Amino acid sequence: MQSAYFGEFGGRFIPETLVEAHRELEDAYAAAQADPEFQKELDWYRKEYIGGPTVLYHAKRLTEQVGGAQIWLKREELAHTGAHKINNAVGQALLAKRIGKKRIIAETGAGQHGVATATVCALMGMECIIYMGAVDVERQKLNVFRMNMLGAKVIPVTSGSKTLKDAINEAMRDWVTNVRTTHYLIGTATGPHPFPTMVRDFQSVIGREARAQMLEKTGRLPDYVVACVGGGSNAIGVFHPFLKDVEEGTVKLVGVEAGGEHEGALNSATLTQGTPGVLHGTRTYLLQDEHGQISDSLSISAGLDYPGVGPEHAWLKDTGRAEYVAVMDDQALEALQALAKAEGIIAALESSHATYHGMQLAKKLPKDKIVLINISGRGDKDMHTIAKYLGVKVD
Ligand SMILES: Cc1ncc(COP(=O)(O)O)c(C=O)c1O
Repeated sequence: MQSAYFGEFGGRFIPETLVEAHRELEDAYAAAQADPEFQKELDWYRKEYIGGPTVLYHAKRLTEQVGGAQIWLKREELAHTGAHKINNAVGQALLAKRIGKKRIIAETGAGQHGVATATVCALMGMECIIYMGAVDVERQKLNVFRMNMLGAKVIPVTSGSKTLKDAINEAMRDWVTNVRTTHYLIGTATGPHPFPTMVRDFQSVIGREARAQMLEKTGRLPDYVVACVGGGSNAIGVFHPFLKDVEEGTVKLVGVEAGGEHEGALNSATLTQGTPGVLHGTRTYLLQDEHGQISDSLSISAGLDYPGVGPEHAWLKDTGRAEYVAVMDDQALEALQALAKAEGIIAALESSHATYHGMQLAKKLPKDKIVLINISGRGDKDMHTIAKYLGVKVD
């Protein structure tokens, strides 16, 4: 059985009414993991439905413009529905089917996880309810429309800061009431055990592919692997298969959080500015006040706008296996535009935080080094937000 803890982080802090559902899920996941048929099914969906392996791309023009180390991109934005979230949604939906639960609930921030969940529910004939903060409903209108098209019901959440944290609270409330029929398909590598482990495993396909593709294309491993961190699922997915290389001193991992509008303003930089505590069933780093009350978070990118983070990242940080930095809204926008103009790739605002830091790293490194950036999603969903930020009217 896998441990519920990552060092002092993780665990399962839940109401009594949810204990049985978590035990059932943990057992079902352990059985599925040991079942070659389940693994075969997962592989089949990655290839035939999601479109993997996604490309590992040498961004030569961006490399030239930055003028340092080689920049390579893991193009997870090419996955079906436009982001990495679908890997986890497929895995958990298959698991829900195994335990006979046909009603799926999920929370979403940027809407990408909501779209991924609505997609797999359509594919597998399941009922789908998506909780989404009212602020996010407004800034991600297009994704709300996509979810509706896919047959899902989107419920705007108007409590608290009306963003991801509040949507998770609402989804947890629903789960407590409907636990017998319902699976809560958590969209990131956080929550009570076994969610952080399970989501990591479903997303590790990104790192496994990237590692093999890098060896095949360059004959060596990257010097740095860089990924944005909201709840932490794309980052842990790309990081995890490199952990042994980190221990051997060949690869370094860097997680990039949202630093917000400017130094000292509200942000979502949980690992760089937070302190340990318990939120949404897990012990991890949090943005909180001295009484343990959760602070509001803020970022231009809805998908990073969360005051917590997956517990495995807290452990990676504290053990020095990974480093975490914060990138500001305008820096992410600058990187988004630089990548778009140099390579013809419009990345998501979330991923653009990683792009910015990856470019800064590359600039300082010699040409024979390699920086691998995980492009977790595509930017189509962010066009309204960006246009507004740049003062351009698009509708
Ligand atoms: C494209 C994209 N990247 C990253 C994230 C952040 O989530 P995570 O840290 O779980 O990868 C999101 C969240 O919605 C997203 O849509």
